[in-house]
Amino acid sequence: EDPRLHDIKTKIRVVPNFPKPGIMFQDITTLLLDPKAFKDTIDLFVERYKGKNISVVAGIEARGFIFGSPIALAIGAKFVPLRKPKKLPGKVISQEYILEYGRDCLEIHVGAVEPGERALVVDDLIATGGTLCAAMDLLGKLNPFLISYYITICHCSERVGAEVVECGCVIELPELKGRERLNGKALYVLVECFECCQ
Ligand code: PRP
Ligand code: MG
Repeated sequence: EDPRLHDIKTKIRVVPNFPKPGIMFQDITTLLLDPKAFKDTIDLFVERYKGKNISVVAGIEARGFIFGSPIALAIGAKFVPLRKPKKLPGKVISQEYILEYGRDCLEIHVGAVEPGERALVVDDLIATGGTLCAAMDLLGKLNPFLISYYITICHCSERVGAEVVECGCVIELPELKGRERLNGKALYVLVECFECCQ
């Protein structure tokens, strides 16, 4: 195993019972305090994605912005923020998704990504996978057989039509089985954290 991975893992602080009882919060702010560990994190992604003809890195608000932007710069791709609702001023495409409690939504500016562009989705962490699924749904192609489903369940019938090459995350919580929810779509993670849910 790459020795940088072990160092990165030790720099992520685990905070029990935050934001609510039973959650072992994975705090990446301690990783960001260490310039070498932060740079190693970005380098590992860059080594994987450089030369892969990726023209867009889509970062998920908020923590996906921190890792997505330097990766985009280093591989010579544009950076596109996938934002929480009502933050983007232009015309948007929206994708609602179901959380453990309630719903949330991601939005992208129309025209930020052209159909057929090769995209990398970046976030800090995959837990249940709901957030990454929503990001991939938003960026990907519309399945013509599922249009009525999208309209009723997700209130959405538009898609960007990009080719999502992979999702890259710093941390995976394998016990929450988010990877299974991605339906075989490619996911690359640097570190796994077990026993994160009590
Ligand atoms: C956290 C994390 C991921 C998402 C993962 O973001 O940064 O984006 O949850 O959860 P999932 O796999 O179960 O969907 P959060 O919504 O807490 O907000 P933040 O990034 O803005 O801090
Ligand atoms: Mg997040």
